[in-house]
Amino acid sequence: MKRISGFSKMSKAEKVAWLAKYFATANPVDVVREFASFAHANVETQKVFDGISENTLTNFYLPYGVAPNVTVNDRVYAVPMVIEESSVVAAAAAGAKFWSERGGIRAEVVSTVKEGQVHFRWEGTEPEKLERFFDAVKSSLLEGVTHLTENMAKRGGGIVDLALLDAGDIEPGLWQLKAQFETCNAMGANFINSVLEEFARLLQQEAKAWPEFKGREREVEVIMAILSNYTPQCRVKAWVECPVEDLGGFKGGMSARTFARRFVTAIKIAEGDPYRAATHNKGIFNGIDAVILATGNDFRAIEACGHAYASRNGQYGSLSHAEITEDDRLRFTLDLPLAVGTVGGLTTLHPLAKRSLEILGHPSATELMEIIAATGLMQNFSAIRSLVTTGIQYGHMRMHLTNILNHFGATDTEAEKALAFFADKTVSFRSVREYLGQLRGGEGEVEVAR
Ligand code: MEV
Repeated sequence: MKRISGFSKMSKAEKVAWLAKYFATANPVDVVREFASFAHANVETQKVFDGISENTLTNFYLPYGVAPNVTVNDRVYAVPMVIEESSVVAAAAAGAKFWSERGGIRAEVVSTVKEGQVHFRWEGTEPEKLERFFDAVKSSLLEGVTHLTENMAKRGGGIVDLALLDAGDIEPGLWQLKAQFETCNAMGANFINSVLEEFARLLQQEAKAWPEFKGREREVEVIMAILSNYTPQCRVKAWVECPVEDLGGFKGGMSARTFARRFVTAIKIAEGDPYRAATHNKGIFNGIDAVILATGNDFRAIEACGHAYASRNGQYGSLSHAEITEDDRLRFTLDLPLAVGTVGGLTTLHPLAKRSLEILGHPSATELMEIIAATGLMQNFSAIRSLVTTGIQYGHMRMHLTNILNHFGATDTEAEKALAFFADKTVSFRSVREYLGQLRGGEGEVEVAR
């Protein structure tokens, strides 16, 4: 049956067989064989992958590439990138090379403070009473979590601040404990959530015993305790700049000055128009997410935070900014929050995430923030450069062509001929299919490769 109970308790083989039988349209034997073919050859390594998530049936491959020449604060990195979209790594690499010849990328971490909240309801009628209570018990709350924070404190982190906020504008009676954390080289989600849950418990306990409270004032109803993925303080800036004249010439004979002017206007459009901003920022995250994935970090957290930050002024806008300075330099900046870790979680568990961090020279979390922001900046630079010069399809479709050729199982000779043929033509699925058809004798359909 399609509906099942006890699925998670079944063996992997049973799960795959069930899935193939009830949900796949292909021959179940082929489906089982295909799933098995994507399992890791090393049984122990496969066990690690199986343990990362639940109901794991096999592995899903994504390309792991590298963008060389990413020069950040005078240090040259080969940046690992995991991404399914063709032309992203090529674009990052092209941007990195361009700027490595013009002084490289500068980057600076603004702060690494992260936040969490305990949302609770307290229905007393005198807010000052709760405020007095909080002031009085704050140190006991902080002391009450030292068993959770002592290890982090040894590494130089811990709780930076704890405050009480009136959240009655959301709903009358709602309040918040807002805690700020320094989690050093860890992303720190488990640490933060454990501390918050302990704060919540202690808050309820202290309120019950607080002599000034009467009746229902002693009741603190905790709604939830959870970190915030919006970390506007845990932020990094990356930028490049050079004299406009040093930008060189561009495709189609475009001068450096025209390029700089069009580049700045393109960024202004993304600053002012949310429709463009979403695509613009998506391009930035093409680079950022790829490094986040390659280093075993949490791309959903990074995206949620980045987009929230892009809306901080009340309208969604560009995360990057460009200007021509008074002394005639093009200055291009990316400013965004990035909460990442280089220890713990997947960074230690996933063999390739570990390798990525080794390739990056075992960076601290702040150094990784700088590398990631630099990669996002390069991604954005290359996208805008294409958009304001040749148009995006020029470079994009070259890469896309390779995918289409693979799809149709083109031989090396066919691919070589197709690349030459489409050098000055529009690439589409249909045009490639037709071209291959002609190459193969002009008769019949071109089959998709199996
Ligand atoms: C495609 O994945 C990303 C771009 O659309 C970004 C942009 O438009 O700036 C090329």
